[in-house]
Amino acid sequence: MISRETIEEILMRTDIQSLVSSYVTLKRAGSNLRGLCPFHSEKSPSFTVYPADNSFYCFGCGVGGDQISFTMKIEHLDYPDAVEFLARRAGITIVETGNNSYKNEPKLDKSRFYQMNVDAARFFNAYLFGNDPAAKSALAYFTEKRGLSVATIKHFGLGFAPDSFDTFTRYMLGKGYTRDELVTGYLCRRNEERGHVYDAFRNRVMFPVIDVSGNVIAFGGRVMDDSKPKYLNSSDTPVFKKSRNLFALNFARQTCAESIVLCEGYMDVIALHSVGITNAVATLGTAITSEQARLLSRYTKKVIISYDADEAGRKAAQRALALLEEVGLEVSVISVPGAKDPDEYIKTYGVEKFKEVIGAAKSKFDYRLDSILGKYDINLPQDKINALGEVEKLISTVYSVAERDVYIHTVAEKFGIAFQSIRADVDRIQARNRAAAKRDEGKRVHEAAVGYFDKVNPDYIKAPAVAKNEETVLGLMLVHPDLRHTVYRDGLLTDDDFFTDLGKRIFEYLRVATESGNDHLIDISEVFSAEEVGRITKMKFSRMEVTNSPEVLMESIASLKKAIAANASGQTKTMDELAEIIRRRQEEQK
Ligand code: UTP
Ligand code: MN
Repeated sequence: MISRETIEEILMRTDIQSLVSSYVTLKRAGSNLRGLCPFHSEKSPSFTVYPADNSFYCFGCGVGGDQISFTMKIEHLDYPDAVEFLARRAGITIVETGNNSYKNEPKLDKSRFYQMNVDAARFFNAYLFGNDPAAKSALAYFTEKRGLSVATIKHFGLGFAPDSFDTFTRYMLGKGYTRDELVTGYLCRRNEERGHVYDAFRNRVMFPVIDVSGNVIAFGGRVMDDSKPKYLNSSDTPVFKKSRNLFALNFARQTCAESIVLCEGYMDVIALHSVGITNAVATLGTAITSEQARLLSRYTKKVIISYDADEAGRKAAQRALALLEEVGLEVSVISVPGAKDPDEYIKTYGVEKFKEVIGAAKSKFDYRLDSILGKYDINLPQDKINALGEVEKLISTVYSVAERDVYIHTVAEKFGIAFQSIRADVDRIQARNRAAAKRDEGKRVHEAAVGYFDKVNPDYIKAPAVAKNEETVLGLMLVHPDLRHTVYRDGLLTDDDFFTDLGKRIFEYLRVATESGNDHLIDISEVFSAEEVGRITKMKFSRMEVTNSPEVLMESIASLKKAIAANASGQTKTMDELAEIIRRRQEEQK
């Protein structure tokens, strides 16, 4: 954990104007600076930098925050990595510590683990090219059996772990690493009974896993025959979390802004990169997690799922599809006909054919259509009826009429059924859906209001008067640390004075920050999501333009208390009132 003092120093030495200027051209606008937002496309500048406050906010897309949030977003880093990035930029050496940190985590020197992994990777790589006969057959496995060039082997830093009890362990002990470190880093194992420490990877070809900052964080080791387990992977270590990393993202990050090809196997990714498809990544021996989905969404717009052709691969693709869509990514799925996986496909049919497959990548709709058709034999009457029923249901979920018609045409042809009959069925299903939706209108309006118009603070709509007052009070407290000291010291407000969940969470966060002397709110981007930090920044900015004083604070506290009392005793809103509120809120957000 990096100490608060260090982070404060990093923030102090990182001038927001010069930080942002290395990515965005800024022009002076009064005491602030303006430029074209790097986070959404716009023609007139609404991206604003406030040098005096070391913060930024985009009035167009609502992104905002401090130097750390800016770096997280523009460099696609998580909080600790962004802090490290800024430290390097400011020429500050990070001292990790258990004391004085704003959170209590055990003391750990990450850089030592990184160095240990680099040394291990170098050992495995050098061994692969060494004189041991076993290494010669490992090299032959890569070059002859798997068709990899020496350049590719070097590019990925592949290696070989000798078939020995402790050759590697002894080498690493000689380098000064302790047995404990080696075991904690998952490079060695300890025999609990006898206490021996020995090599974790033996007689396996080695695939180092490298994070986006270029650190070696883990290894996968594959057997060269059919024995089991086929792969051995590092478990989580202090510098590695399987569920948060992706194989080859360190390379793919250069070329993946438009799309990423997601594979299952290390070998698939290596094969793709070696023929120039360098935007391919793979998970690390597990199904894709929501953390990995979010990670992908920070790097790209579109994911092309290219899993193995077997049943397991198809099922995994379905799950991945759902997870990736949840984080707002555009997703398509490809399958490789006549091969077990992308690696084999490219070896058999060549890269051009694979590119054709990507080009013809199926949209979500086609993919679902195919999975329905795959379940049935439409030459059998009953199967045909069932399949048609499912397909019609699927089409009825498509919003656009034109798009629906295109699908109906395809299906009509495939099933040999008249366009009009399918159209009529689909219309009927839609009417039925609409009726069901209408029965539930109250819920629907509410959900639309909650989920659609204010995703960041979904409670806003339920009590706008209160929420508005919350934002004023919190804005004041955010701008002036001494005002928030007063609030907590004198107990001017409690949790109960806040209605929205976001408001409560900010109030609680500020309390902890105030009590622990974290006046610079250095961990705000770690505690809140990027969207929330944007909203918090907006609350702050709307107060920075106006007069603030203890009197203003007292007034707005009084007015918040009044609003919340009125809300508590108040009547529930009618549907028309809700609709009116939504309309006003939309106007405001324009
Ligand atoms: P595959 O069995 O498809 O392996 O598993 P592969 O990488 O394509 O290798 P080849 O082509 O058969 O040599 C896909 C991924 O699942 C994980 C690995 O990450 C592998 O790359 N896996 C597989 C394991 O972690 N353990 C295993 O025993 C098998
Ligand atoms: Mn495979």
